[in-house]
Amino acid sequence: MSKMKIRIYGDPVLRQVSEDVTEFDEELQKVTTEMVAAMIDNEGVGLAAPQVGILERFLVIGLPVEGDEDKRRIFVIINPEILEHSEESVIGEEGCLSLPDITEDVSRYNSIKVRFQDIFGEFHEIATEGYFARVIQHETDHLEGVLLVDRISPLKRSLLRGKLKRLREQQKEINVKA
Ligand code: CO
Repeated sequence: MSKMKIRIYGDPVLRQVSEDVTEFDEELQKVTTEMVAAMIDNEGVGLAAPQVGILERFLVIGLPVEGDEDKRRIFVIINPEILEHSEESVIGEEGCLSLPDITEDVSRYNSIKVRFQDIFGEFHEIATEGYFARVIQHETDHLEGVLLVDRISPLKRSLLRGKLKRLREQQKEINVKA
């Protein structure tokens, strides 16, 4: 099991804006490898650095491979920047490792063009749509301190008020114990 602790809603680190990565060193390789393990252990499809307490602009994604449940396509995305997006948005269900037991319909751009750096600092540009585009948008939100509960209607958020309060309170307890 991964030793990384995933930060839960109520932890102030999730609300901070992250800084650009400037050093593409061994430490970055180590941390992203640990994040991939933590993501898989926790059955997530994505994990952004702030979710493990690191305020830097990088994230990992493990896309399920159709027809092979045990396989994932792993992406390590550093300093992502959404350059273009479609006019049209689509609604889809999302969860978040920092918001246990919450799934909500969230509207996202259907397609995006994103520039990012890989683990060696090389730049890439990809155009993608659908589920992968959704996951990238969800994870890049984390780098701005934005969570999926910020992207739902006020009515839906008010229905979640009790659950969110419980998460915040559990969070306080964890911090007192730690
Ligand atoms: Co998330």
